[in-house]
Amino acid sequence: MSNSNIQIFDTTLRDGEQVPGCKLNTEQKVVIAKQLENLGVDVIEAGFPVSSPGDFKSVEEISKIIKNATVCGLTRSVRNDIKVASEALKYAKRPRIHTGIGTSDSHIQFKFKSNREDILQRAYDAVKYAKTFVEDVEFYAEDAGRTDNDYLARVCEVAIKAGATVLNIPDTTGYCLPSEYGAKMKYLMENVKGIEKAILSCHCHNDLGLATANSIEGVINGARQIECTINGIGERAGNTALEEVVMILKQHPYLNLDTNINTQYLYGISQLVSDSMAIYTQPNKAIVGANAFAHSSGIHQDGVIKNRETYEIIDPKAVGVTESAIVLTARSGRAALAYRAKNIGYELTKLQLDDIYANFLNFADQKKEIDDADIHHIIETSKVYKEIISA
Ligand code: KIV
Ligand code: ZN
Repeated sequence: MSNSNIQIFDTTLRDGEQVPGCKLNTEQKVVIAKQLENLGVDVIEAGFPVSSPGDFKSVEEISKIIKNATVCGLTRSVRNDIKVASEALKYAKRPRIHTGIGTSDSHIQFKFKSNREDILQRAYDAVKYAKTFVEDVEFYAEDAGRTDNDYLARVCEVAIKAGATVLNIPDTTGYCLPSEYGAKMKYLMENVKGIEKAILSCHCHNDLGLATANSIEGVINGARQIECTINGIGERAGNTALEEVVMILKQHPYLNLDTNINTQYLYGISQLVSDSMAIYTQPNKAIVGANAFAHSSGIHQDGVIKNRETYEIIDPKAVGVTESAIVLTARSGRAALAYRAKNIGYELTKLQLDDIYANFLNFADQKKEIDDADIHHIIETSKVYKEIISA
């Protein structure tokens, strides 16, 4: 792995599946895991094995079929969780145990009714125990976003001492500003003893709509892994969207950060996850939403017809979308109508277009969107139709 390579850790099947009502069965998870491997993710977090027999089985079945990616199972800092995860991962070619504990004062005081020194000991013991089963152990400091940096650095140091190879710094509650989250990563890079033995990982939640921005600031400041989900699904407002961070790094090559993702599969896997979980993707969702490459206002349509790059920063084919869409509404201009008419076989002169455009506007005022059947109808009922077909 080069220093500019950002590892993509997909947690659609674990954090993503925590969306209420979106439970997947093992067969569905196996199908998605295979597609995640085709997509080129580096790590697949397949589940939380101790949480239910179904999750255990899913992690076990995914471990059997995944050839290249690391397969990861989540645990708390509890010995039985760790032992059960190691059993679920026993067929994995590259197994990883992801263990951790809450480190913010709020978690220490209210969840664990404990103190900072005890949490350090529990973190150390959990990683040490996980290392008796697998070489690759990731440690998460839950609620790191609200953990003060000095203490967080001490937590990271004990996890590294116990053998952790990845340190996950979750903004569990989606609280941080991008500048704060970036500064946290920078602080850890500069102050954690032994940091060269591990990589830092961004795990951001979207409660304030900042998950993607925070993850990008995290890698700009030294983190080398991003934890994310397809379509950004996950608890509450969701997790960092995989397709967003991947395309941001691709579209900004001067950052000199890249991923192993085959971006042409992004749209397909977005649809697969949305269908399998019966969870609708908002039309204006970046990269994979139905309107991400659709143009409906006259000014934009005219530009895109002349040159796609006037209003698009991504070639839709790069993410698996066949082409940009010129959507006809009452806001559309003549250029868009002529373009769509040409696509279905009508080559219109300027005068014919003027006539048909007037009919089009009347029609479009009554209907939200004009489809190909409507265009045929508008042209066939126009005064110039005879002229058009005899040309
Ligand atoms: O958001 C979070 O803190 C998590 C951890 C369990 C990794 O999902
Ligand atoms: Zn999370």
